[in-house]
Amino acid sequence: MNILVVGSGGREHAICEAFSRSSRVAKIYCANGNAGIATIAECVPIKPEEIEKLVTFAVENAIDLTFVGGETALALGIVDEFERRGTSIIGPTKAAAELEASKAFSKDFMSRHGVPTAVYRNADSADEAVSVLNDATFGDESAPVVVKADGLAAGKGVVVASNRQDAIDAITNLANVVGSEAASKIVLEECLIGREVSLIMFADGEDFALMPPTRDHKRIGEGDTGPNTGGMGTITDAALLTGEQTESIVEDIIKPTLKGCKEEGFPFRGILFLGLMMTAEGPKLLEYNVRFGDPETQSILVRLKTDLVEICEAMLDGSLGKFDIKWKPGSSATVVLAAEGYPYNPRKGDVISGLDDVIDATVFHAGTAMNDSGEIVTSGGRVLGVTATADSLDQALSICYREVSKISFEGMQYRRDIGR
Ligand code: AMP
Ligand code: GLY
Repeated sequence: MNILVVGSGGREHAICEAFSRSSRVAKIYCANGNAGIATIAECVPIKPEEIEKLVTFAVENAIDLTFVGGETALALGIVDEFERRGTSIIGPTKAAAELEASKAFSKDFMSRHGVPTAVYRNADSADEAVSVLNDATFGDESAPVVVKADGLAAGKGVVVASNRQDAIDAITNLANVVGSEAASKIVLEECLIGREVSLIMFADGEDFALMPPTRDHKRIGEGDTGPNTGGMGTITDAALLTGEQTESIVEDIIKPTLKGCKEEGFPFRGILFLGLMMTAEGPKLLEYNVRFGDPETQSILVRLKTDLVEICEAMLDGSLGKFDIKWKPGSSATVVLAAEGYPYNPRKGDVISGLDDVIDATVFHAGTAMNDSGEIVTSGGRVLGVTATADSLDQALSICYREVSKISFEGMQYRRDIGR
């Protein structure tokens, strides 16, 4: 088979790597890829939002299966367009991608289908959002409140405000941070307390298959300090969720979600990602993502033993319910190495050394490129992810950090407390 992966980050490197392990795969293309992906796939210079070019490329190059990494192309309707042209693709339709593309839509969807989530109000403007805060019926005035831009904001659209004045400031500032379109609607939520876990699944419109639970570390600084990033490291470990918690997530969140999607005319096929908070009242849903996480994917797919092509076929023909997916037991860890200045103003062009010395971990490239002298250099905020697997989380972390210490580039920053 010829495979096309859409995207250029660490997540897409991990997806390409999983496809490269399949005996069914003859050739992998990646649009547009990076220096690491280029070692296992042919990189083609088409951006995820260039849907017409992607579908033309797929048709002209006899692509048998396209896999979409990120949300941008999905929200633009890449899946609908590929399906219209009769070309196989993994991902949700534009209608189903609204679960991520509009937070107001997704909160109303959760409410319609009884999915446990934070108490919320949607506002159609910044002025309306401020008046919701002054409304006595919206929660306890002294409690923290979460302000969210409705639209896609690459992780920058959420502010957890510790008091109402900070919330008003966040509302006023939101359009400057994420743009007026993403902030044209605003969601206000009660602040939930608990531990966060991400649970990602394959879905075929009817049935689903869970991946190992993961935890992301979103803040730039150790001890969860500083600004939010796309994610500075992840772990997978069975202990992240008890059997009882998993059952409650399946019964109270996953089943109503998939049933709701079907009832509303957009059966969910693709990767569904639940951002969850384990509260004292049980698991509650923070958000849906309609794709793999980055860097969750790196930690998950290194543990996948089943052929990814076969899982994709089961998603396409609706046989996921009968399919048994095998995972390597134990745990995994990914530590992200970021450029100086990340997340605000990452510096590019620093030469990376030590990559060939890594032996016991997998290095997934994110923002990397090859310069004219054939050296691998930084070319984005999150530069590399180093991923290790082992029988226990402690072992995975110690292997990971040992291998990380072999890599260096000017200004390299990473968190030393991933998984702790
Ligand atoms: P989201 O993009 O909606 O997942 O929000 C990004 C991050 O903001 C989450 O991973 C949480 O850390 C935090 N967050 C979002 N909603 C809430 C909430 N209702 N209560 C507490 N923290 C939240
Ligand atoms: N790491 C969080 C995300 O991919 O949304």
